[in-house]
Amino acid sequence: MKKKSTLLRVIAAAAAVIAVLSALSFPLRTVEYTITSDKITEPVRIAQISDLHSCRYGKNMETLIDAIDAQSPDIVVLTGDIYDDVVDNSNTSVFLENIGKRYPCFYAAGNHELRTSRWADYAAEAESFGITVLEGENVRVGEIMICGAAMKADRSFDWEDSVCKCAENADPNLFNVLLYHFPEQADYCRSFGKFDLILSGHAHGGQWRIPGLVNGLFTPEEGFFPAHAGGRYDFDDCTMIVSRGLSRTKEKIPRIFNNPELVIVDIVPEETE
Ligand SMILES: [Fe+2]
Repeated sequence: MKKKSTLLRVIAAAAAVIAVLSALSFPLRTVEYTITSDKITEPVRIAQISDLHSCRYGKNMETLIDAIDAQSPDIVVLTGDIYDDVVDNSNTSVFLENIGKRYPCFYAAGNHELRTSRWADYAAEAESFGITVLEGENVRVGEIMICGAAMKADRSFDWEDSVCKCAENADPNLFNVLLYHFPEQADYCRSFGKFDLILSGHAHGGQWRIPGLVNGLFTPEEGFFPAHAGGRYDFDDCTMIVSRGLSRTKEKIPRIFNNPELVIVDIVPEETE
């Protein structure tokens, strides 16, 4: 009899947990960061899109596009796994066509773009929408240098080489923003001493979080309790921001307390007396 009541209590508790988690839908949220720098005189707002994996965000991707429009960014950057290697990519195509018309957009690929044999075609499509695809190349936008590191579609150089190329062409007089998919390589990126800000993704926030207690449960590269699951990491010489990404239907297990996110970074001048 006692065993039976204990079992019922366990089942009731499990049902309550499932009900609570189901009630929490973990919708898209916008996360804002501010970075001050003496290298700029005018504020710049960057919107970061990462790890979309062609997931749907409303009809014609309007939920995501409206969220970006609401922030009026100066620049949109895409930090990899926007196109996917398995699922249909029509949501990504619709999204890129729309933001390419609206904003200066810069795109550094992730592992899933390079995993597909069609990355060169997808890159050409993104370029046709007005998006600049960067493979170890830098583009100056006012006082900002956008440094896009990614393995080249023809495999003529790898991921680490691409960071090296970006570092070679960084300008110490400008605010250098590295777009690089893999946050676990923060130390390697920082070793060049050239980048003021690193924008990464890939970790999907460690999939499960316990707010205030566990920032992320697991990533393939860093295992359980990963050091770079998501959020802001301030080092002596630069800041890294790791997006929790936008994928929400591709994974086999659901996100828990780990909302898909649009990252907004305001780079503002240091106040002078
Ligand atoms: Fe990835």
